[in-house]
Amino acid sequence: MTMSYQTGFLNHFASEAVPGALPEGRNSPQKPAFGLYAEQFSTSAFTAPRAENRRSWLYRMRPTTEHGAFKPYSGAERLAAPDGTHTTPNRLRWNPLPMPDGEVDFVDGMVTYGGNGGPSEGGIGIHLYAATASMDARAFQNSDGEMLIVPQQGALLITTELGRMDVPPGHIAVIPKGMRFRLEFTEGAARGYICENFGAPFRLPDLGPIGANGLANPRDFETPAAWFEDRDDNFEVVQKFNGKLWTTMIDHSPFDVVGWHGNSAPYRYDLARFNTIGTVSFDHPDPSIFTVLTSPSDTPGTANCDFVIFPPRWMVGEDTFRPPWFHRNVMSEFMGLIHGEYDAKEGGGFAPGGASLHNQFNGHGPDVDSTAKAMAADLKPHKIDNTLAFMFESRAIIQSTDFAMNGGLLQDDYDACWSGFPKARLP
Ligand SMILES: [Fe+2]
Repeated sequence: MTMSYQTGFLNHFASEAVPGALPEGRNSPQKPAFGLYAEQFSTSAFTAPRAENRRSWLYRMRPTTEHGAFKPYSGAERLAAPDGTHTTPNRLRWNPLPMPDGEVDFVDGMVTYGGNGGPSEGGIGIHLYAATASMDARAFQNSDGEMLIVPQQGALLITTELGRMDVPPGHIAVIPKGMRFRLEFTEGAARGYICENFGAPFRLPDLGPIGANGLANPRDFETPAAWFEDRDDNFEVVQKFNGKLWTTMIDHSPFDVVGWHGNSAPYRYDLARFNTIGTVSFDHPDPSIFTVLTSPSDTPGTANCDFVIFPPRWMVGEDTFRPPWFHRNVMSEFMGLIHGEYDAKEGGGFAPGGASLHNQFNGHGPDVDSTAKAMAADLKPHKIDNTLAFMFESRAIIQSTDFAMNGGLLQDDYDACWSGFPKARLP
């Protein structure tokens, strides 16, 4: 199966799966080609500044208006906004989410660990998924938030209204708020992490004195070319709206967009393309240097959410404590591990598919063993290799769900990794 992509970070793309499907020179002609229907899909307000404005024009076989009433969806009970009753200041760490028994697809395999805010006020939702079955005659639409999907195990084939994307572990995919998509697994079972972004859409961070190049480069973001299926079967559309799931049936595939143009589009990114920047003298920069994508808030420099990775990289700092230093800060940090071992936690408790949460102003950093090792190290150039960890970082407290606290995966001894630091010896 060959997929084709258009590159650049949300350039204005144009793509047609059938030649002639895209009208020339106007968005909504009186009679689009082949009897297609023109539909505008906007993920910014019409009047958003031009640089922030995101919208695409879709030319589809039927308009999306044609459906009956949405009714409450009874599956996916574990997808729930945290209500604040389970939130603690404690540092938390979870064992990997186990694969479900039997056939469970992406929609039913999602479970919420935490989050803050909501679809009307901004913030994020943090979910993991573990699933064994591909979605078939079913589509998901998240009207609450943009979805950043981080596969940890199992390659994904994501069919969206605008086209299809292959997304193996080591890549990420971002689906715009409100866009319908289907998720299939090409390698059997699959597990991964989701950041549901209720705030401003993810974008590339400014680079300041770094200059025009570096970190995630725009040319490495891939948006699918138009693709459609002509299927007149019964399809279920499951919608997340105002924190709850709703369902309705339609009598055709929702993936019937034959051509489109615009810049509100899904995209994928290979994290191996990230141009990691670090010190070549002493100390290491703040971890913001690893920001792939950012969702800004209305406070300058203070993100609603940053998506940050800890990829393979060379460590060369002289007279430098090389692991992430101890810190307490205003941002709240949810971490996951795609593969390998994270350099601040080498004891094995932070496993691929597992997770940790360090909420605002609660001290964290390397564990006792990693600290002792780093202080004793003979500082030669050293490559941290075969590892890929990441962080969803938010300016607001990340509230925990009942599942996070009582779902059987929370470790009861996480604090112990910071127990037993030898006291400093003053002269
Ligand atoms: Fe941190």
